[in-house]
Amino acid sequence: MKDKKTNKAETETISNGMEKIVSLCKRRGFVFPGSEIYGGLANSWDYGPLGVELKNNIKQAWWDRFVRRRSDMVGIDAALIMNPKVWEASGHLATFSDPLVECKKCHERFRADNIDIDAPCAKCGAKGQFTESKQFNLMLKTFLGPAEEQANVAYFRPEIAQSMFVNFKKVLDTTRRRLPFGIASQGKAFRNEITPGNFIFRTREFDLMEFEYFIEEKEWEKWFEYWQKEMMEWITKDLGINPKKVHEVEVPKEDRAHYSKRTVDFEYDYPFGQKELYGLAYRTDFDLKNHEKFSGQNLKYRDPETGEEFFPHVIEPSFGLDRSVLATLVDAYYEDGGHVVLKLPFKLAPYKAAVFPLLANKPELVELAQKIHGDLLKSFPVAWDDRGNIGKRYYSQDEIGTPFCITVDFDSLENGDVTVRDRDTAKQERIKIKELTEYINGKISG
Ligand code: GAP
Repeated sequence: MKDKKTNKAETETISNGMEKIVSLCKRRGFVFPGSEIYGGLANSWDYGPLGVELKNNIKQAWWDRFVRRRSDMVGIDAALIMNPKVWEASGHLATFSDPLVECKKCHERFRADNIDIDAPCAKCGAKGQFTESKQFNLMLKTFLGPAEEQANVAYFRPEIAQSMFVNFKKVLDTTRRRLPFGIASQGKAFRNEITPGNFIFRTREFDLMEFEYFIEEKEWEKWFEYWQKEMMEWITKDLGINPKKVHEVEVPKEDRAHYSKRTVDFEYDYPFGQKELYGLAYRTDFDLKNHEKFSGQNLKYRDPETGEEFFPHVIEPSFGLDRSVLATLVDAYYEDGGHVVLKLPFKLAPYKAAVFPLLANKPELVELAQKIHGDLLKSFPVAWDDRGNIGKRYYSQDEIGTPFCITVDFDSLENGDVTVRDRDTAKQERIKIKELTEYINGKISG
């Protein structure tokens, strides 16, 4: 569901726990402030070399789990800007809004459900100066073509869901699926948030991964429960997040999105408080019904056995990708006396291994280490480091979550083996060079 209540902490300076994550992300190239050389832009962020690997690994793991490995799911990749009629039919133009108040003195705007109206303005300190609350639509508007006139107004999508609904009939015709089945997609979504904040938690441009699971109405409770369990499995198994820090929260009617008859939010204990990670909604037949009404096209499902035509109902698991990255990073972060270890699940780690020649000034060690690095790169991403002492190199890889560090020493030249050091246990073992790829692949997939 659209985030409702946020507490004050969200708009304030990032708390201590977050400072460490933000600083690590910037220092090691996971996430950079967007347009920083021009002073940044309204809480926008860019993923750096390590961040893009982590993000892509999460996207790929999600696609594998929910699309590739299932016979009841297919994927699409749709346009970000859709015919504006889509947003009339979906109800977003009328109801996708947050309550907004403005300080009459300094003109700063706030989400009305985000502040204490009787308290002084957080920006200028004026008391009793807030305007009446009015609804502010979150759709991000643009114009298509050269003329900026009403006829050319279009909107960047605030969710992917509508792409799945407008393509429902075509997917059905081309894939001949039978109920129950799902259509999945991943990609950008845009919301003109009044108060973006808390690093990559709330931004105006973000990545979503979601699917619409089409079912018969009488089975909605069964499928809701099924997907609730599957979402929890994804969070704890694929992202490796501690289940104790995840809360399944029943969303009351007044806080649910306009299309939902039941919503359960998965909330995570971020350093700035317990907040939404994902949402699971029962969208009924609201969307297909409205698109049929507004488009005049028949969007009903025809039962191949009985010939009966009806609107399928929909269960929608929705996953914010940036929030997945954030919760995964926060949960993986361990610190012990200044030694930081990112205990990322091996599958998600940007590098699976790092290769070090014991001494950078011994050509025979460097040559063998380079050969091993090149060979391993054919199978997975591998870092290279020949600076400083081995201890420092281990710590540097721990901080970015690299599961295995491989050191090439003088014994390697004699015996054809190397030291492999495990990130989580710090244990070291000698492994034959010719068995390294298989060894690491086994650990990653195991
Ligand atoms: N199609 C359903 C839908 O869009 P939502 O709860 O409004 O539901 C889905 O959004 C998910 O998108 C949220 O659970 C959250 O993970 C993520 N999300 C929502 N707004 C966001 C924002 N401004 N920045 C980053 N992620 C956001």
